[in-house]
Amino acid sequence: MNAPRTNALDLEHYWMPFTDNRRFKRAPKLVASARDMYYTITDGRQVLDGLATLWCVNAGHCRPRIVEAIRAQAGVLDFASSFSLGHPLPFRVAARVAELAPPGMSHVFFTNSGSEAVDTALKIALAYHRLRGEGTRTRFIGRERGYHGVNLGGISVSGVPANRRAFAGALLPAVDHLRHTQDLAQPRVRARLRRHGRRARR
Ligand SMILES: Cc1ncc(COP(=O)(O)O)c(C=O)c1O
Repeated sequence: MNAPRTNALDLEHYWMPFTDNRRFKRAPKLVASARDMYYTITDGRQVLDGLATLWCVNAGHCRPRIVEAIRAQAGVLDFASSFSLGHPLPFRVAARVAELAPPGMSHVFFTNSGSEAVDTALKIALAYHRLRGEGTRTRFIGRERGYHGVNLGGISVSGVPANRRAFAGALLPAVDHLRHTQDLAQPRVRARLRRHGRRARR
């Protein structure tokens, strides 16, 4: 695979998510390619992708069977909107997911990310109660220190103090938080909270 040319690369315009942009751009670490568990950085180093790229490349990078399936599908139908237009594959995948899910969970709503899934779930819960004639049931319960993504609904039910502070006053109004379940007697937990700049509350 061709490595991206980094010498002439203008780093200014891409605003990287969840990244200290200035720091990154002072010493950029750019990925050139990947194979199985490893990235290859443009300077030639191999880096173990221990997170499976935020848990979404669990089968490994650039696996030939998966690459071939993507290539074949892109040549037949690259994209079709699901707004009032169907395509057989999502129906097939949904049926397969329903087969694997516990009894009673037989409908599948696909989303593009965890954040979108969380906000969609919040909306489904509100709509469900409204349709049952209990439209006043709008209160959500989250948990301290819980993380539910980056959209406003998800941040509202999350218990990440810095995120909640950053958007205080603009979050969903009806949210309560249960106590977190982290064991603050554990030095590892206290050390992690210190690293993230949070006070270890008893
Ligand atoms: C419980 C939970 N909700 C939401 C998210 C957000 O997912 P995404 O990063 O795909 O938007 C995550 C991601 O780690 C998560 O663990």
